[in-house]
Amino acid sequence: MPEADDKTAQDYAPQIPQKTEDFFLKGSGALEWGMKNRLSRIFNPASGRTVMLAIDHGYFQGPTSGLERVDLNILPLVPYADSLMLTRGILRSVVPAALPKSVVLRVSGGASILKELSAEGVAVDIEDSIRLNVCAMAVQVFVGGEHERDSILNMTKVVDWGNRYGIPTLAVTAVGKDMKRDARYFRLATRICAELGAHIVKTYYVEDGFETVTAACPVPIVMAGGKKIPEIDALRMASKACLEGAAGVDMGRNIFQSEHPAAMIQAVRAVVHRDETPEKALALYEELSRQP
Ligand code: 5RP
Repeated sequence: MPEADDKTAQDYAPQIPQKTEDFFLKGSGALEWGMKNRLSRIFNPASGRTVMLAIDHGYFQGPTSGLERVDLNILPLVPYADSLMLTRGILRSVVPAALPKSVVLRVSGGASILKELSAEGVAVDIEDSIRLNVCAMAVQVFVGGEHERDSILNMTKVVDWGNRYGIPTLAVTAVGKDMKRDARYFRLATRICAELGAHIVKTYYVEDGFETVTAACPVPIVMAGGKKIPEIDALRMASKACLEGAAGVDMGRNIFQSEHPAAMIQAVRAVVHRDETPEKALALYEELSRQP
C-alpha cells in the first residue's frame, strides 16, 4: 500500500539546492559513475593522489629481486598501498580475496626479457577483469618501439572494452629502444595515450621539464619508480613528480627492493599524500626501519 501523503513542503527542503559535485581528478569529470567510482578507489579523493604498489614485473621478467615470494615480501606492504598493480596469476594464487585495496590488473603480455619486449598483445579478456572486480586495466605502450602500432592498438582495444563496463585503462609508457628518456619523448608518448582514450598514464620522471609532461597530458599521470636508487633519491623524485603535477606514484622496485620495504612505502606515502619533504620522509624511513 502506498504511504499516506502527509508530508509538508519542508520535508523536501526545496530551499536547499542539490549539490552537483565536481570530480576531483583531472580530465575525468565527464566519465560515467562506475569509472569515477573505480578511479576514486585508486586515487585518494582527499589528496587527489595514489601510492600504487607495482608488483607486475614477473609478467615479462620472472621472479625479480624482491618478488621471489610475493606472499612473504609483498602482502605485509599492502596496508600501506592505495592500490596494487599486478597480474591475474599472482592475484588469484597469492592475494586474499578479502583485500581491502583496489586492484590495477596488468592485461598486456606475451613478451619476455629474452626477446623483443614490445611484442605484446592483450593477454587478459575483459570478462576476467570484470570477474576479478578490478579498478583499472594496465597496458604497456611502446611509442617508438618496434611494435609501436600493435601496442597502441592493444591499448585502444582495452579502452573500448573498459568503456563498455566502466573500467578505466592505465597506459604504461615504455621507453622504445632508440628513444631518449626526456620530456619531449614523454610529452609525445603520454599525450598519444591520453588522446587515444587512456584514463591514467604512467610515465618515468625526468629532471628537465617534467611539469610540461604533466601539463600536456589531459588525464592523471602516475610516476613509475624505475631501477632501485638510494631511498633519499627515490623520495626526492616522488616529491618532485607530485609537486610538478603527477597524481602520485606507481612504484615497484624502489619500494620492494629497499632494505626496509614497509618503512619505505610509508615514507613514500608521506611525500605523496602529505607533501612531506624528502628529508623528513627519509627521517621517517629511518625511524621505522629501526622498529622491530
Ligand atoms: C613494467 C611496469 C612496472 O609496473 C613498472 O615499471 C614498475 O615500477 P618500477 O619501475 O617502479 O619498478 O610497468 O613494465
